[in-house]
Amino acid sequence: MCGIVGYVGPRPSVDVVVGGLRKLEYRGYDSAGVAVIGPGGLTISRAKGKLKNLVDRLAEKPLTGRTAIGHTRWATHGRPSDENAHPHSYKGVAVVHNGIIENHMELKAELTGKGHKFASETDTEIFAHLISDAMIKGGDDLSQAVRDTLKQVKGTYAMAVVSEKRPNEIVAAKNASPLVLGYGVGEAFLASDVPAILEHTREVSYLEEGELAHLGPEGIRIENERGETVTRAPHHVEWSSVAAEKDGHKHFMHKEIFEQPRAVADTIRGRISLEQGDVTLDGLELTEAYVKGLSKITIVACGTSWHAGLCGRNMIESLARIQVEVELASEFRYRDPLVDEKTLVLAISQSGETADTLAAVKESKRRGARAVSICNVIGASIPRDCDGTLYTRAGPEIGVASTKAFTTQLAALFLLGVKLGRLRGTLSAEQARPHLEALRHVPAQMEQVLRQEPAVMPVAKRCAKARDVLFLGRNSQHPVALEGALKLKEISYIHAEGYAAGEMKHGPIALIDENLPVVVIATKEPHYEKTLGNMEEVKARGGEVFAVVSEGDNLAASLASVALCVPACPPLLSPLLTILPLQFLSYHVADLRGTDVDQPRNLAKSVTVE
Ligand code: G6P
Repeated sequence: MCGIVGYVGPRPSVDVVVGGLRKLEYRGYDSAGVAVIGPGGLTISRAKGKLKNLVDRLAEKPLTGRTAIGHTRWATHGRPSDENAHPHSYKGVAVVHNGIIENHMELKAELTGKGHKFASETDTEIFAHLISDAMIKGGDDLSQAVRDTLKQVKGTYAMAVVSEKRPNEIVAAKNASPLVLGYGVGEAFLASDVPAILEHTREVSYLEEGELAHLGPEGIRIENERGETVTRAPHHVEWSSVAAEKDGHKHFMHKEIFEQPRAVADTIRGRISLEQGDVTLDGLELTEAYVKGLSKITIVACGTSWHAGLCGRNMIESLARIQVEVELASEFRYRDPLVDEKTLVLAISQSGETADTLAAVKESKRRGARAVSICNVIGASIPRDCDGTLYTRAGPEIGVASTKAFTTQLAALFLLGVKLGRLRGTLSAEQARPHLEALRHVPAQMEQVLRQEPAVMPVAKRCAKARDVLFLGRNSQHPVALEGALKLKEISYIHAEGYAAGEMKHGPIALIDENLPVVVIATKEPHYEKTLGNMEEVKARGGEVFAVVSEGDNLAASLASVALCVPACPPLLSPLLTILPLQFLSYHVADLRGTDVDQPRNLAKSVTVE
């Protein structure tokens, strides 16, 4: 996720900014850059790769000045490269940006029509062009130029701008992405996150939605959307810098669990048109003729991404009525698979680097299939090898146990299901609309579930003492049971198994006694009475049942020692909600047992070997 740092004041501004960027490295990035307003005007240095590359460039060609902005980029539009690294500039205006400009295509076309030439593939560069034009029109008033520009832009942003016409000023604006302001004497700081400035000041305030900040040596002035000055007293940060990186959370996994509503909203953003009852999938060129000619879709993935694939099968088969197979990439690559030019192979990978998934893509292509991917990292190996990629916008996931990558993959798969349904004619615009509305509603529902974290504690305390835990789910909830079990074993080292509820009688029922906690996902969905029957069977054998149930379902709740509630949601989407209590469960069990939650033993975030 991109990181922004800004400084205006008497210190060597480039050092302050680069030092701040270093503290934001944990967010993940693929390039970095800095823009300075010095005696000679605006100068910029940028480099692909690690900060060290930028530092080396700055050592060769130092930049000096009192006002600087810097950025670590985590690519969302355009591959990682020197040219796409921020800051982007135009006629003496430089911009750094974190977020997505949804209408960048339209704006770019308009500007190109007026004779503007672009130097990068990014959406951000548009800001520099628009602000520079607005400065010329508005008599060099930078704040006003930013405000005028923001009126034309749809999307999410945290941004900072400098102009050589206003050498002692940074203007920053925010909507959806975070920005922290740091207060000093005769100086002012700005960053995406507190750790970047903690070394210099502990007096901070947060910019609110729609606000604009004006930073100068005289201090910081905040304006609301109407241009009125907002008075806000800074508060004192007590956190250590390590705690600050985790935004006050004890572990990255916990932070990432809480980031899910934002991550899912970002993944959907700009891709749904309720008016047209349709979906736009940038990066996947799917035509009606091609999709109608397909005989099946084969999903290949590993680990949590494979579980997302299992949910995806339900979504795509139900929405687009086409056969979907879900394969473990490590098996698929060696088993003489039946794929050909009528098969669309869909690789799902958070990192885009998993060796088995990459090999499965290569193998499918060798056999004539077209391969596309759902991935979280722009420019990674899998998207590079595929014919198209739908990117999730989870931001970097640091905890080894995947959380926000999973739910954003589900959102992307649902979008793909609707798109395929529209192209294949199994969904009309009218029929697609309620599905899209339900998806849009999910982030708010996720927030609601996240508020219930404390309800998980009694279950976590019980499971922390167990040797084994069984997870059961049916239909849409079967992959959730598998994922719940995987999460628990990954980070708490307790043996856990996920099973299709209907399969319990074929084996796991033999294990049930008072020592085996059974976690059942029993939300009100078709055939859920059968899952209630499974809960009765567990209880009859002296087992203890914990359940995830639909809000207000007293019947299901009455069958469990503890019931964790989720709001009503269509079955295809409900895994985005039912997985949340299970993520909390594994997290708290691991925390109670004192394991290394973010870096569990023997596991790696990205498995680049077979
Ligand atoms: C590793 C990680 C898992 C992940 C799996 C697949 O095992 O620990 O969290 O689900 O790889 O990774 P990918 O990046 O391809 O989704």
